[in-house]
Amino acid sequence: MAKITYIEHGGKEHVVDVSNGLTVMEGARDNGIPGIEADCGGACACSTCHVYIDPTWVEKLAAKDAMEEDMLDFAYEPDAARSRLTCQLKVTDDLDGLVVQMPEKQI
Ligand code: FES
Repeated sequence: MAKITYIEHGGKEHVVDVSNGLTVMEGARDNGIPGIEADCGGACACSTCHVYIDPTWVEKLAAKDAMEEDMLDFAYEPDAARSRLTCQLKVTDDLDGLVVQMPEKQI
């Protein structure tokens, strides 16, 4: 279980507990948090689950694989240092305290 803070582009924060084994995208979806659309349902095929990772967390996450890297090119205003696709981030206890910020819009 990890407590994850999702911050909407306008600054509104949502702090929710997300079970291990879910993805960060599923944590947003299951809690009705706006700003993460996840059109492809988590198949790493749409980039509409894009977020910016809080700088203090970037290095703590597992590295992007090639597919995520490629798909991020299609995201809205990706930031090479901070952008991730939340469907590719599996929740574990290690993610407790994670903070992510949604972009102004998904593509
Ligand atoms: S939900 Fe489509 S790429 Fe993540």
